Amino acid sequence: MDALAEHDRRGSILLEEATVLQHETLPGGQHLLRLQAPGIAQKARSGQFVHLCCGPELPLRRPFSLLRADPAAGWIEILYKDMGAGTRLLAQQQPGTLLSLLGPIGNSFSPSAERSRPLLIGGGVGLPPMVFLAGEISADWPEHQAIVLLGSEVAFPFTPKPSRLLLPDMLPDVIAAMPLLEDRGVPSRLASNQDFPGCFQGHVTALAEHWLAALNETELAKVEIYACGPGPMLKAAAALARRFGVPSQLALEEYMACGVGGCAGCVVELAGPDGPEMKRVCVDGPVFNGSQVFPA
Ligand SMILES: Cc1cc2nc3c(=O)[nH]c(=O)nc-3n(C[C@H](O)[C@H](O)[C@H](O)COP(=O)(O)OP(=O)(O)OC[C@H]3O[C@@H](n4cnc5c(N)ncnc54)[C@H](O)[C@@H]3O)c2cc1C
Ligand code: FES
Repeated sequence: MDALAEHDRRGSILLEEATVLQHETLPGGQHLLRLQAPGIAQKARSGQFVHLCCGPELPLRRPFSLLRADPAAGWIEILYKDMGAGTRLLAQQQPGTLLSLLGPIGNSFSPSAERSRPLLIGGGVGLPPMVFLAGEISADWPEHQAIVLLGSEVAFPFTPKPSRLLLPDMLPDVIAAMPLLEDRGVPSRLASNQDFPGCFQGHVTALAEHWLAALNETELAKVEIYACGPGPMLKAAAALARRFGVPSQLALEEYMACGVGGCAGCVVELAGPDGPEMKRVCVDGPVFNGSQVFPA
């Protein structure tokens, strides 16, 4: 998906002892963790992840996407949700603790100069790569008109605020936005089935469908869909891409053991030009063409 050959990517994975700088508990059983990891912060790109040791008593690492990286200050951030033993242990780690970190791992999203109306769709813990990608696009292509749509069925890990960034092609009642993106001038809108104020009532892909349906042919020719989230959401995003004739890039999440390409524990079957292809999500992905993940 990106220009880096797999062996180059594997060769560039760093092992860092990262200091916990900040660790915040957020609504919906979610946590924001900032780690001092200067090597990883320098190289990180959207869609990549780190393989993190959640504590000394749990040898198997857990993968987490990067939310943000500040190469100058040398920190990275991840946003994670309580799921099981690993994330519960991670949630106990206090500022000052050292955590072993492998990263950045995997390929990255590849936005293009031509597709100047990128549509970013994030669901649940698929939000972090979309925030990272929105930052990259606004830095690399300030003229691009990206829009970020985020869905959650638990409280959003931030306090939504009414957007002041107008979107003519958006439903007028849908005004709730993510402050971090809004403050950077990137328009975002939120969706949920939980009746949260200002949010679209329904799945985030249904909101995306409304937005796409309002565009004319010329505008659609500038759209590319980027998505990360649960499997059914990714399937719906790929179906939208097919229906509206736009390309899509999807970041997959699979169970991982080694996280660096050695165990084949994360293999998925994709549609290749000559038939099915087996790919490792950790090092061949996690970003793949939507049409290969969900062929027609
Ligand atoms: C590339 C990648 C990026 C990820 N990024 C994030 C992120 O930014 N934020 C975040 O909160 N989580 C993210 N995850 C998921 C995260 O790795 C898992 O939630 C975590 O490993 C769970 O560990 P645990 O020990 O707490 O729970 P476990 O006890 O291992 O699992 C608890 C529950 O989570 C489910 N689960 C665990 N791992 C996965 C998985 N990979 N896919 C689907 N279901 C799973 C299990 O079925 C179980 O129900 C990512 C996963 C991958 C592969
Ligand atoms: S997790 Fe081992 S090959 Fe991907």
